[in-house]
Order: sequence, then C-alpha cells, then structure tokens
Amino acid sequence: MSNKTNRRDFLGMSFAAVAAVGGAASLVGMKQAWDPLPSVLAAGFTTIDLANSELVPGTPKIFTWRGKPIFVLEKTTEMEKFDGDLVIADKRYTVTIGLCTHLGCIPAWKKTGWKCACHGGEFNPNGQQTFGPPPKPLNVPPFSLNGTVLTLGEEGTESKAMMTARA
Ligand code: FES
Repeated sequence: MSNKTNRRDFLGMSFAAVAAVGGAASLVGMKQAWDPLPSVLAAGFTTIDLANSELVPGTPKIFTWRGKPIFVLEKTTEMEKFDGDLVIADKRYTVTIGLCTHLGCIPAWKKTGWKCACHGGEFNPNGQQTFGPPPKPLNVPPFSLNGTVLTLGEEGTESKAMMTARA
C-alpha cells in the first residue's frame, strides 16, 4: 500500500469521525430545541383545590388555564343533578371552559345560568346550551382529580366522564 493510499484512508476516516460527532451533536441540539422549556411545561398545568378556593355555591368562580377562562360552579342543592356533574363527597360541580361554543365570547353568569352577550346564547348550570345559536354545551377542559385538587391540562377519568355526559 502506498503512502498516498494510507493518507487518503486516514483522511476519509477522520472526515467520517468528524461527521459522526457533528451529527450526534446536532441531534442533541435539535432535541433540546424541540423539548418545551420547563416554564412552558409548568404553564400547561393549573391546579385548583376546590376545598380551598372560597367557592360560593350557586356562583361560579373564574380561573385561568392556558389563557382561557375556566368556570367552576359549585352547584346548590336546588340545582338539577346531572350525570356530567363532578361529584366530590356530597358536593356537585360544573367545570367548563368559559368560552361560548358559538363564536368564543365569554358568557356571564346571571343567577340561573350563563348568558352570552354576543348573540344571546344561554347555558344552564350544567353548561348545556338552552337558547340561541350555541351549537353545543360549554366544553370541559381536560383535568385529573386527586382528592379535591383538579389539575387542569392532565386528562383524567372525571373530565372524560364529564365530556361524555355532554356529548
Ligand atoms: S358567541 Fe355566544 S352566542 Fe354567539
């Protein structure tokens, strides 16, 4: 074998090694770029402790999850029971995304249900549409339940059941 051939082999192997290291480094870089930042991951979840949220039965409270209003209503005993209620001990709750299913306005609570000022849509305390153009009930956000703590952004059996009851 000539010196020229050895030199060419050496250069070829060196180039391959540099390319392999460079490729691996780019893959690591790409993965880091694709992975959401910890702050973004944390922003995806919102926890609400229903036992410590100063909820007043019959008056919904508005929380925020991923920039959307979330209506949490602790129902009064006079309010109709519904299969889609979130039931914890002897309390019943409605948990919905507070955006009208017509064109996305935020409905306001009017003592017996939500009314949407944009086009007159109405929803009962279960979040079901009862009047006007909304084509479906208020949407249920994905959440999991641990005791009295809801974690919004993490789909659990309770939110699936609420969604199914409204379908
Ligand atoms: S956006 Fe609510 S009724 Fe049209």
